Amino acid sequence: MPVVHVQHLRKEYESITAVNGLCLHLDEGDIFGFIGPNGAGKTTTIKMLATLLRPTAGTATIGGHDILREPEAVRAIIGYMPDFFGVYDDIKVWEYLDFFAAAYKLPREKRARVVDDVLQLTDLTAKKDAYVEELSRGMKQRLCLAKTLVHDPQVLLLDEPASGLDPRARIEIKELLKELKRMGKTILISSHILPELADFCNKIGIIEKGELVISGGVQEILQQVAGGHVLEIRVLDDPQPAVAMLREVPSVRTAQVAEDHAIRVEFSGDAEAQHALLRTLLQRGIRVQSFSEQRTDLEDLFMRVTKGIVS
Ligand SMILES: Nc1ncnc2c1ncn2[C@@H]1O[C@H](COP(=O)(O)OP(=O)(O)OP(=O)(O)O)[C@@H](O)[C@H]1O
Ligand SMILES: [Mg+2]
Repeated sequence: MPVVHVQHLRKEYESITAVNGLCLHLDEGDIFGFIGPNGAGKTTTIKMLATLLRPTAGTATIGGHDILREPEAVRAIIGYMPDFFGVYDDIKVWEYLDFFAAAYKLPREKRARVVDDVLQLTDLTAKKDAYVEELSRGMKQRLCLAKTLVHDPQVLLLDEPASGLDPRARIEIKELLKELKRMGKTILISSHILPELADFCNKIGIIEKGELVISGGVQEILQQVAGGHVLEIRVLDDPQPAVAMLREVPSVRTAQVAEDHAIRVEFSGDAEAQHALLRTLLQRGIRVQSFSEQRTDLEDLFMRVTKGIVS
C-alpha cells in the first residue's frame, strides 16, 4: 500500500482552479520532488495533504489514513514545513522546540532528549539558548525543519525548505535532507529548481496550472524530457573533426560547437554507451581534454514541457 496516495485532488478558489485532479502515489522511503513555477499549485496541494485546507473534490490517504475523515491520525504521522516561517519573539530555540514537542504530547521526561536530538540533527546545538529572532534565515529554516521532526514523523511535507537561502545554506539543508532520507522517511519536497532535487529524489512530478504534467522516476523523466543527456566535450585541437565523427554515432542526436568552443552533444545512450563514445573519440586520435555530462536545468525543462514536447 502506498504511504501517500493522492486521488483526484482538486481545489477551487473563487475564480480559479488551483489544483486540478491531481493523482500521485508514494511508497515508503520515496523522496518526491514536487516541481513547478510560481502559482502552479504546490503550496495548495501540500496544505491539503497537511489537512490544513479542505479539498473541493478528491482526497488522499497518508499512512492509510484519509485526510478528510481522519485528519488527527494524518497529523500524527506527518511533519509539515510551511513555505513561510512565522515570527516568534522572546522565545529561545530550545523552548520553541520544547513547545512543539509538548503540543505533540510527548511526555516531559522525553522532551529534553528529543529537543537535543533534533538540534543535533539540524546542526543547531550551539544555538540552543539563543533567541529565535537572533538566528539567520538559514538557521531559522533549519529550526523550522527541526520543529517538524520532534514527533518523529514517517512522512515529511516540505514546502520549499531551501528557498531564499545562499548556496552554502542550501547545501546544508540538502545534507540534512539526505540524512532524513537515510533515516527512511518518505518525503515530498517542493521547489522551483529541478537540479536542486534531481540528485536525491527518486521521483519527481512537474505541476503546471494545477495539473501534474509529468511524474515518475527521475532518470525516466530526464530522459523523456531532455531526450537523453547533454554531454559537454572539450578537445585540444579544432573541434570540427570531432563533431563530424560524433554525428555518425547513432545515439548522438545533435552535436555542435558552442560559443565557448565546447562541443555540446544531445545523447540518448546509457552509461555504457557514453563510455564507448569517449573511447571511440580517443581511439580515433581526438585529443579530448574533458568529457562531462551536463545537468538539465529547469528552465529548459519547463520550456520543453510547455512547448508540448512531452506527450
Ligand atoms: N487563499 C487563496 N485564495 C485565492 N487564490 C489562491 C489562494 N491561495 C492560492 N491561490 C491561487 O492558487 C494558485 C496556486 O497557488 P499556490 O500557492 O498553491 O502555488 P505555488 O505553486 O505554491 O506557487 P509558489 O511557487 O509561488 O509558492 C495561484 O493562482 C494562487 O494565486
Ligand atoms: Mg508555494
